[in-house]
Amino acid sequence: QFLGFLATRVPKTELHLHIEGTLEPELAFQLAKKHDLHGLLSKYQYSVERIQESYQFEDLQSFLDLYYDFMQVLQDSEDFFRLTLTYLERARSQNICHVEIFFDGPFHVKRGIALSTVIDGIRAALEYGETHWRFTWRLIMCLQRELSPTDALQCVRELAPFRPWLHGIGLDGAEFPNPPDRFSAAFELARSMGLRCVAHAGEEGPPEYIRMALDSLQVERIDHGVQVTKDPTLLELLRATQIPLTVCPLSNLRLHVVDSLSEHPLRQLLDDGLCVTLNSDDPAYFGGYLNENFTVMIRENGLRCAHVAALLQNSFVASFLDTDECQRYL
Ligand code: ADE
Ligand code: ZN
Repeated sequence: QFLGFLATRVPKTELHLHIEGTLEPELAFQLAKKHDLHGLLSKYQYSVERIQESYQFEDLQSFLDLYYDFMQVLQDSEDFFRLTLTYLERARSQNICHVEIFFDGPFHVKRGIALSTVIDGIRAALEYGETHWRFTWRLIMCLQRELSPTDALQCVRELAPFRPWLHGIGLDGAEFPNPPDRFSAAFELARSMGLRCVAHAGEEGPPEYIRMALDSLQVERIDHGVQVTKDPTLLELLRATQIPLTVCPLSNLRLHVVDSLSEHPLRQLLDDGLCVTLNSDDPAYFGGYLNENFTVMIRENGLRCAHVAALLQNSFVASFLDTDECQRYL
């Protein structure tokens, strides 16, 4: 209990958070009303509770179907601003001091929302957080694995005007049947633009996808990566290289990647000496923000003081903060 108290009160970073995954049912409802989305509202009987009840999933794909459906409530810069500021208020209350935020740029463009609308709104909120609450931040655009390799490449080409506010490129969406090596050209271009590279891999998909993300995409961090436990050679590689994994236990539980949090590999990965961080992924959908992930894993995964200390330290080590900025916190 004391450990939980401590973990929730000390400064930390969040490195794996989809801003669209912070859409709480109340905000979804308000924005749906604002934009007169009666199709969506009637599907949930004009009730926030019905929306809340729909947040139940069988696997990654069933989650993505709902998550993409609710994105229709995000239409103008003000919506993205509100969404992001609401998350930052929550992050601040949880003593998160640095955030690296994912957004699904290509998906928004596909549904007719300009990239400038998305980025302007998110950025305005991040700048507000920086000025008023002293947040540091990085913005990472994820390519959706549902994209064709050609479309993904084109998306990266179109990033040039936004380069000053973007720090990196990521890869998310349906893991099957879309292995990471489909996107090697897009990541190569992103790297040549000076963008840092991360990718979701080994969430549901096999350890082989983690290897591909490392070899073909040359990513610096793996998002999730929990399937590494099935491949001892890869586990040893990740230990030796200290390539970070951004692990999200409540997400893994809700998407049935694990049957229970007591069986979650987090503690074992820490004991094996991997650079693991704790994160919330899509907290509005998975029943908890970062502090809830800490408290539940201390309780159910048997984390001890040394595990929690490693997670907190790794949250800075694995971040894209430069050394000077890290000094401010460590
Ligand atoms: N998009 C949002 N959350 C995701 C996750 N956990 N895996 C893949 N794509 C996602
Ligand atoms: Zn994710």
